[in-house]
Amino acid sequence: MSGDMLVRRARDALRAAEPAQSIGALLRETIAAAPPRELRRALLGVEAAERMDGTPRFGQHLLVDSPELTIFHATLPPGFVNAPHDHRTWAVVAVYEGEERNVFYERRDDALVPEASLVATAPRVVVMRDDTIHAIENRLPTPSYAIHAYGNAHFHVARSMWHPETLREEPRDEKIFAAWSRDMIARGVRLPEAGTPR
Ligand SMILES: [Fe+2]
Repeated sequence: MSGDMLVRRARDALRAAEPAQSIGALLRETIAAAPPRELRRALLGVEAAERMDGTPRFGQHLLVDSPELTIFHATLPPGFVNAPHDHRTWAVVAVYEGEERNVFYERRDDALVPEASLVATAPRVVVMRDDTIHAIENRLPTPSYAIHAYGNAHFHVARSMWHPETLREEPRDEKIFAAWSRDMIARGVRLPEAGTPR
């Protein structure tokens, strides 16, 4: 499926009674329809897909950036990790090559506590609720590739992030969030083991 077609079908799915479930079904179908390399070419175009095959660095390739729908293709290199964050809407992540390990957090009094974990191994679609707080990492020696969809303007709305060590809540700032991530990766930080597997 081409990126344009995926966005068109996702826009239709937004009108369903349960958009997140409907987008989940669409992404399940999308990642089942072609082997990973072919899927990347169809979604992103040959040139962008080949760059990713050659040097799998962290990257977010936007397919749509609108007030009610954001979809991007995400590449997570080996050792990638980020800090806890929220989305303020439903989120659907379709891992089609490699894996994304999730740690889900809960607010308890004034603290943030790791509550559950989920290793999403391709092909796997994870649907998250509006109030989900999580962090992700790639523990494999190979990159992970996924399609991420959100029911809002993911890169523009006010959201929260939690400092990776103090777990203090702060307004999300893309530059600081990315700097935290780079620092965690450089130091080889791993997300906690704590939490019930989902
Ligand atoms: Fe997230």
